Amino acid sequence: MEKKRIMTVFGTRPEAIKMAPLVGALMEHPNLESICCVTAQHREMLDGVLQLFQIQPQYDLNIMAQQQSLSQITSRCLLGMDQVLQEAKPDLVLVHGDTSTTFAGALSAFYHKIPVGHVEAGLRTYDKYSPFPEEMNRTMVGALADLHFCPTAANRDNLLREKIAGEMFITGNTVIDALKTTVVPGYQFTDERLNQLNFKEHKVILVTCHRRENYGLPMQQIMLALREIAERFEDVQLVYPVHLSPIVRETAMKYLDGVPRIHLIDPLPADEMHNLMALCYFVMTDSGGLQEEAPALGKPVLVLRRETERPEAIAAGTVRLAGVEQDEIVALATQLLSSEAEYERMARAVNPYGDGRACDRIVKGILWHFGLCTEKPLDFVP
Ligand code: UD1
Ligand code: UDP
Repeated sequence: MEKKRIMTVFGTRPEAIKMAPLVGALMEHPNLESICCVTAQHREMLDGVLQLFQIQPQYDLNIMAQQQSLSQITSRCLLGMDQVLQEAKPDLVLVHGDTSTTFAGALSAFYHKIPVGHVEAGLRTYDKYSPFPEEMNRTMVGALADLHFCPTAANRDNLLREKIAGEMFITGNTVIDALKTTVVPGYQFTDERLNQLNFKEHKVILVTCHRRENYGLPMQQIMLALREIAERFEDVQLVYPVHLSPIVRETAMKYLDGVPRIHLIDPLPADEMHNLMALCYFVMTDSGGLQEEAPALGKPVLVLRRETERPEAIAAGTVRLAGVEQDEIVALATQLLSSEAEYERMARAVNPYGDGRACDRIVKGILWHFGLCTEKPLDFVP
């Protein structure tokens, strides 16, 4: 029997981490041929993930430029994808999440009349500018996609309410599949500074911050809050792997460089990051992926944003929205550092986002779509 040709398209660090286990699952299936195309919207941060998960893409558009604009990313992806799709002629294109690569990948497949599968479909804030431009990227891909792989039932319900067409599956998030392979007991870091952290005596707070809607005043406020926390609490150590975006790096250096108890380090390989998260006291972040990973590892999260498209862990009590104002962020961090009861209330391992079998469900959904199996995969239930 001829194999169905399934092309995965991704370009940034989080897409790669969340697509890596799926690429592996596609490669293993005898009825499917996996074709991997990276846009390299990120270069170094993507390459680290490809190396970790031993993925060798068949196509690499290599589009990244310093301080790239949204239009540059989208247009370079579209032009590059034209040639790739003409040559590879996949039966299905899989995109992930909400980046500019995701949107351009789905739009390009649509221009070539190739069906689109959207992994991590249906997350919404319903605020066009937050997250920006991700909210609209994800919404537009929802309109273009034929298969929607929703992590949770609430994500699927969003699509149903919007009367989106196509086949829908509730799969869990593939990030939990990835996490199950990276976190190991007794992990030794390659960065000696991380090995030297004393996780028993100090409260290690893991920090990340990179979102475009936080550029400018919100990011300054976040940095000032981090500084105040480090100054106020002598038993705290803040570890902040700083994103390679020059705007983020400049802001972090300006406000935090040299502040005692704050460690500004380069982005970590995904396995180092996941193991550091498993050991830390709590997480402060504006990242999407960290909001899913930390609850699974039993770590409280303060979200450095005004809203989130991931309300499930807030409902479960392990994530709180801290906003983007210095006073509010410091107040919530202080509560978590000072009240054992509050900490214990939040530090419970919950898995509203997945059980580690999302890729299996997605592969079964694809087989079902092509008539290669008779039963639709069962929905993920937390
Ligand atoms: C992108 C995504 C965002 C996602 C984030 C994950 C869009 C619009 N945004 O935002 O949804 O949360 O990735 O990290 O798709 N850079 C490097 N090397 C790298 C990566 C980035 O030098 O490996 C620098 C470049 O100067 C680049 C800049 O960072 O121009 C910003 O990268 P870009 O992909 O445009 O935006 P992110 O903020 O990373
Ligand atoms: N991550 C990583 N190294 C780092 C910071 C983050 O491997 O130094 C991982 C993190 O564990 C998660 C993903 O990158 O799996 C999240 O990516 P990011 O925060 O850049 O993007 P978002 O999820 O907000 O789109």
